Amino acid sequence: MDSFSTVIRTASHEAHVEAETSTFMADMLGGRLGVDAYARYTEQLWFVYEALEAGAQRLAGDPVAGPFVRPELFRLGALERDLAHLRGPGWRAGLSALPATRAYAERVRECAEEWPAGYVAHHYTRYLGDLSGGQIIRDRAERTWGFEKKGDGVRFYVFEGIGNPAAFKRGYRELLDAVHADELEKQRIVGECKRAFALNTGVFRGLGEEFAVSA
Ligand code: HEM
Repeated sequence: MDSFSTVIRTASHEAHVEAETSTFMADMLGGRLGVDAYARYTEQLWFVYEALEAGAQRLAGDPVAGPFVRPELFRLGALERDLAHLRGPGWRAGLSALPATRAYAERVRECAEEWPAGYVAHHYTRYLGDLSGGQIIRDRAERTWGFEKKGDGVRFYVFEGIGNPAAFKRGYRELLDAVHADELEKQRIVGECKRAFALNTGVFRGLGEEFAVSA
């Protein structure tokens, strides 16, 4: 039988391809959008990580979600530095969530408060993605908009506290394999993971409507 980390990875593969190839992502990574699109995207991430990390404090002692809560993953501080760079010192006043972002953050908050195993699905979908494809996004952003390598603007993608991301990901998959959940609950986690991907795709759709490349 496949390990749970393999099951969740395989089950979300299709949704991953859909997120990865969304028009907004393709346009942004293809260098067809201005830095304002990247800034708007980074703003949306702020709402998602605010929900993930406000919930993390409370879940640190939880038997299911607790082992996943690791301060070296926290992104909110890095996002805030990036936003100050992208939008200036008044960044907070101009921050606004797309409807799709509000729905995403709301679902993360709901899981954090009521369903720790569901929170694990959201945790996996974001942080393991940031440690993986996030590095491709950082590279493109540095090249496209001229951010200093691993500096202001792309700090979200730089995990200062993780020296060896490949080793960290291996450890993370071991945590998934050991998650305190029975088979049915594991299936529900997989379902929530697919929902997490769909919520991300929804945000991309909203961003795509705001930043359409004219033919
Ligand atoms: C253009 C955008 C993206 C690119 C280029 C990309 C690329 C990648 C790559 C290359 C990997 C494999 C890394 C490895 O084998 O260790 C990966 C893994 C992953 N990505 Fe993405 N990705 C993108 C968008 C996303 C999005 C939007 C999400 C969800 C929010 C996401 C979530 C994940 C997750 C959870 C994994 C880990 C899979 C696992 O090993 O269990 N990715 N990504």
